[in-house]
Amino acid sequence: MSGNESILPEIVIKGKKIKVPVIQGGMGVGVSLYPLASAVAKEGGLGIVSSACLDRLVSKRTGKKYNSYEAAYEEVSRAKSAGGYAGINIMGALVRDYNDSVKGALDAGADAIISGAGLPLNLPAIQPPKDTALIPIVSSARALELICKKWERLGYRPDAVVLEGPLAGGHLGFKMDQIDLESNILENLFSPVKDMAIKYGDFPVIVAGGIYTHDDILTFLKMGADGVQMGTRFLATEESSASDEYKQAVISAKEEDIIVGHDPGSPCGLPFRVIKQSPMYVSAIKRLRQPKCDKGYVLLKDKEGKFTVCPAKESNEHHFCICNGLLSSAGYNRDKEEPLYTVGTNAARVDTILSVKTLMEELTGKAPAAAL
Ligand SMILES: Cc1cc2nc3c(=O)[nH]c(=O)nc-3n(C[C@H](O)[C@H](O)[C@H](O)COP(=O)(O)O)c2cc1C
Repeated sequence: MSGNESILPEIVIKGKKIKVPVIQGGMGVGVSLYPLASAVAKEGGLGIVSSACLDRLVSKRTGKKYNSYEAAYEEVSRAKSAGGYAGINIMGALVRDYNDSVKGALDAGADAIISGAGLPLNLPAIQPPKDTALIPIVSSARALELICKKWERLGYRPDAVVLEGPLAGGHLGFKMDQIDLESNILENLFSPVKDMAIKYGDFPVIVAGGIYTHDDILTFLKMGADGVQMGTRFLATEESSASDEYKQAVISAKEEDIIVGHDPGSPCGLPFRVIKQSPMYVSAIKRLRQPKCDKGYVLLKDKEGKFTVCPAKESNEHHFCICNGLLSSAGYNRDKEEPLYTVGTNAARVDTILSVKTLMEELTGKAPAAAL
């Protein structure tokens, strides 16, 4: 392939021309913070910080108390400070902190808010987004239509959509028995979602889940996608804030080590992909952990409207304590808690830690793959 052919086209989202159509997926807890997002932004992609547990992470880093609004503001501002485009991923499952995180990101001038793990039906109503692109994550055309219809009533339409297939890392938008269906292969999910995006205003479609090489990117662009979102490849970069142990676990992981946890699983109720040797997962499988919830990010409201309910709070029979496990993976409370490592299926292919610059050169086709 000639050099010219392999240079990727830009993606335009809400009038912003992002030179490289690679969105670095938000990775919570504490994996995609400003060092990773700003490095991606600098290389011409869209860098995304994760809002998950950000108040604790930023407070620890700075030695000053930050609430969720302030932490989102701080992290987005830093991610943008070296130039390029940067935004934030805010998961719907983090109900208690959702609105504050959105407001902090908007006030900091995030280039995009990307929101999944639940349908972000109310996102445009929280605060006028001005120049910030609002981008839902979906796993089907049906979910996208629900969002488009609701947003239409709010006088808004998505600025782009991320279609995430079942090979992704983190929480999955599929039930356990849907994960391996032929109909749910990303290539097969794509056309109906593209048609839906055209129907509601022809906004860009970004595909995610299992995309690994420059050629993978070209394949989806040729199918009609406007960009790709990638997580696992950025997890094992120098700039990712995953702990060294986490990065080594990714490098060591073999195909058979990567499983989807569901019982015990995430208190959000969504299947969650993990490395099965993750210390917290091993304890969870053996039902060794005593229930303990002292973080409370996935809390739901009780009858009185207070955020007190978490399925992992009373019993660890069916759920693991995801906040503590993931915080530990980012080195937050490693002395007290066992880490839980989430990855995409392609973690089995990762065998070296790259800088974002080297990875972006490989993904854009400017340099040959260092290791595939
Ligand atoms: C370590 C890790 C953490 C993730 N955390 C989140 C998250 O907090 N919110 C979210 O919407 N997606 C999350 N994801 C999904 C990614 O943003 C991305 O869409 C997905 O991993 C793409 O698939 P890939 O890993 O095969 O590239 C996470 C993925 C990984 C690998």
